Amino acid sequence: MCGIVAYIGSQKAYPIILKGLKRLEYRGYDSAGIALYDDAVQCFKRKGRVAELAAWDEKIIEKATVGIGHTRWATHGEPSDANAHPHTSNNGQLTLVHNGIIENYASLKQELVQKGYVFKSETDTEVLVNFIEDIQKNNDYTLEEAMRVALKRVVGAYVIIVMEKGFPERLIAARKGSPLVIGVGDGEHFLASDASPIIEYTKKVIYVNDYELAILFKDEIILKNLGNEAITPYVQQLDMELAQIEKGGFDHFMLKEIFDQPASLTDCLRGRLDSENQILTLAGIDQHISIFTEAKRIIIVACGTSWHAGLIAEYMIEALGRIPVEVEYASEFRYRNPVIHPGDVIIAISQSGETADTLVALERAKEQGAFIFGVVNAVGSSIARLSHAGAYTHAGPEIGVASTKAFTAQLMVLAMMAIKIGKEKKTLSASEYQRYLVELALIPAKVKTVIASHESIKKVAIHYASARDFLFLGRGYNFPVALEGALKLKEISYIHAEGYPAAEMKHGPIALVDEHLPVLFVATKDAYYEKIVSNIQEIKARKGKVIAIVSADDTLIRSMADHVMEVPEVDELLAPLVSVIPTQLLSYYIGVALGLDVDKPRNLAKSVTVE
Ligand code: G6P
Repeated sequence: MCGIVAYIGSQKAYPIILKGLKRLEYRGYDSAGIALYDDAVQCFKRKGRVAELAAWDEKIIEKATVGIGHTRWATHGEPSDANAHPHTSNNGQLTLVHNGIIENYASLKQELVQKGYVFKSETDTEVLVNFIEDIQKNNDYTLEEAMRVALKRVVGAYVIIVMEKGFPERLIAARKGSPLVIGVGDGEHFLASDASPIIEYTKKVIYVNDYELAILFKDEIILKNLGNEAITPYVQQLDMELAQIEKGGFDHFMLKEIFDQPASLTDCLRGRLDSENQILTLAGIDQHISIFTEAKRIIIVACGTSWHAGLIAEYMIEALGRIPVEVEYASEFRYRNPVIHPGDVIIAISQSGETADTLVALERAKEQGAFIFGVVNAVGSSIARLSHAGAYTHAGPEIGVASTKAFTAQLMVLAMMAIKIGKEKKTLSASEYQRYLVELALIPAKVKTVIASHESIKKVAIHYASARDFLFLGRGYNFPVALEGALKLKEISYIHAEGYPAAEMKHGPIALVDEHLPVLFVATKDAYYEKIVSNIQEIKARKGKVIAIVSADDTLIRSMADHVMEVPEVDELLAPLVSVIPTQLLSYYIGVALGLDVDKPRNLAKSVTVE
């Protein structure tokens, strides 16, 4: 949450920072601000989106070649001009942007208030900048020394970038828990929460690690740890193109990303699946295959949409690999003192690779001897680096706050893992293995077929756009799809939606059913087909409106439902990869019909780097 960008070099800093903040808005969009250093530090910030910052003093914009910027997802203090970053210390020496949470800010604030410090905002960030100022002033320290001392006393997560009056040629950044990337240019350097603001200028990047301090001049980067020992920077080449983070003619990133899925799934399979020759290569699994075949238990840890992918993986791995799987919300797992045995395998699923709860849950499990396998989209992210091994999902950058293509790529990787483990454990027969490989290869084309029916899904969406509540029901592999469909609708349209196992519906939600309630059944042909037909009857008998996602050759449910959305026939284990697509399109078109900002739904952020 919160995005930060900084620039130091010879170009005008303002347009670079402004554009960078727009790219990072998915991380939060409650307020935005930029501080530039020309003859003095000039700060401009306000509540609202980055676009509202665009009007600024031209003279400063012309001159300044150093600056820091911030786009906020509010934690401490409501969205307001005063709570927007950057924040400046009481004596005006230090100006700082921050991503993260300072957990002990209340006690630090009390200390500072007793010393006479005055606060203009409710933020933990303003406490931090004054805390650094206080240490610097009292000990006659350089900024770097003061930051080292201050950060040792800070509890919580942070990335900060600090500008100091009198030092226009230098920025100092520090990281613990929140992400920070340095872009290495020629006579210029960039800092950002992820690589998207940097990619346009350089592909050379350094990922800053926890407890590191980065001191940036336009021609030099110095990396140190909090113990003041120098660290040799590891410069990496970014594997990302600018076009991947632009809308490419679509009205919204969300629609572009839904439409991207045949390509992103093909990318996910590339170099891994050779169905003609019956080869499936997943390096991260291949290299540690005995860990998986001998595992007594697998625990999947994730949040949000990624947790739904985990639920589907539970079904897949138990079916094919015959290993017991538990799926945990990372936020619960990290705090409830779970039993972890050495040899347990933890699979972490995360689009961003930066979700704070997932990250800390993994750190705890790693300390207790578990093997950590990351299924991550963002290359080089914290979770990817913390994992012992992993498989990238290769969905490409996902900008829309609601996850779509990252989810299907996660399912693809998890399905490949289950198939691979099943084959190696011999719990999956050779003929079934071959059949799955053929099925996998067909998925991108089947997803494309569903997307081609978007106009008819749009009509269904418009028909139900004024609904107040929605129920999503599914069984087996399609039960988590129902959960994901409901989540997507809530996120994008603010319509209350609940996902439920279709049979469990009788234990409560059925009380909601009347002629006003749309009930969406994910009812593709599988082992539960007849059961779900009965559940549809139960809803019909109570006058509920039935929308059904059905297999192409379905006639029975088609004759019962008020509206259907059709998907090609797929093996039931892989069905979620196609049955989720109509739910994505439905949410998107309802959100658009309601005139909402589907790419940046209210109160949400894409990368949740606070717990
Ligand atoms: C946020 C996003 C969701 C995402 C979840 C987990 O809530 O809005 O779309 O599923 O975080 O994120 P991760 O990056 O770990 O998959």
